[in-house]
Amino acid sequence: MHPAARLALRSGLRSVGTTAQLSRFQPSTLPRVVVRFSSTGGNPQYEFIQVTEPRPGVGQITLNRPKALNALSTPLITELNLALSSFQSSPTTSCILLTGSEKAFAAGADIKEMAPLTFSSAYTNSFIESWSNLTTALKKPLIAAVSGHALGGGCELALMADILYCTKTANFGQPEIKLGTIPGAGGSQRLTRAVGKAKAMELILTGKSFSGEEAEKWGVAARSYGSYEELMEQALKTAEVIAGYSKVAVQAAKEVVNKSQDLGLRDGVEFERRVFHALFGSEDQKIGMKAFAEKKKAEWKHQ
Ligand code: CAA
Repeated sequence: MHPAARLALRSGLRSVGTTAQLSRFQPSTLPRVVVRFSSTGGNPQYEFIQVTEPRPGVGQITLNRPKALNALSTPLITELNLALSSFQSSPTTSCILLTGSEKAFAAGADIKEMAPLTFSSAYTNSFIESWSNLTTALKKPLIAAVSGHALGGGCELALMADILYCTKTANFGQPEIKLGTIPGAGGSQRLTRAVGKAKAMELILTGKSFSGEEAEKWGVAARSYGSYEELMEQALKTAEVIAGYSKVAVQAAKEVVNKSQDLGLRDGVEFERRVFHALFGSEDQKIGMKAFAEKKKAEWKHQ
């Protein structure tokens, strides 16, 4: 089965047609999701995202729903999950870059899709739960490059990335309160961890935006840049640097840092030490340390 189809099934897609077409069973309030795969088993033909490989080892996903400022509809999220799954299983991809346009990373979950939802349909169909695949199924590093609006679900999507870069003028925020609701894709948890309770409460209760410059100052973003071009160039550079290391070590590094978000310090340090010990069993640890001693460039085997 196409790896993307496998993840799609896990994230709620019920059937894979014999004509290599995925269709999702959904209640009538949600738009129908159809992602076609080429008859040769190649890349799916996406409607709401673009998928490229701009540098060696780097897979790029560009959200591409310009008329709705990249609002994150269910079909878009399904495509995003498919593309991420595809990169996750690709032997040539080591690091993934997620971006939008200069004007909008994403203006949030699709309000027009959500407006008619009822409690029972949202609850029983686990609305928005498949967004969690972004963080649970993905073992390779994900960099978000944010320019323009990153609001509501767009802010939450950016916060799910392992590294967040943005322009200084990027427009972050959790404005759900203005719509009579609250963040639903982890904003109250991840933003609070990033900026602390006082700031998160102010932002979520008022719906006020914050700039990319503030995002960097508060530790939400790793770096902010003066222009969109600089943002994209630096994000690609970082992705290429990461893609140049041992995949085994990179995956382990991501895993241990993420554990710090879930475990207390003592358990976290213990977990890190166990993974550190385990890496003495990898070929790449021997290759890396031998290359250092011999003043040579390490040629990773990714084993
Ligand atoms: N959902 C659906 N459509 C959206 C959208 C969204 N989140 N954001 C923008 N759009 C659409 C607009 O409806 C408009 O479409 P039409 O041309 O068909 O009317 C188009 O995108 C362009 O938008 P604007 O004309 O509003 O553009 P603007 O430059 O004047 O304003 C904006 C930009 C400030 C981002 C404004 O569009 C806006 O406030 N968007 C909504 C932001 C928001 O509230 N996001 C949170 C959503 S709830 C959520 O995300 C829940 C969660 O936690 C998962």
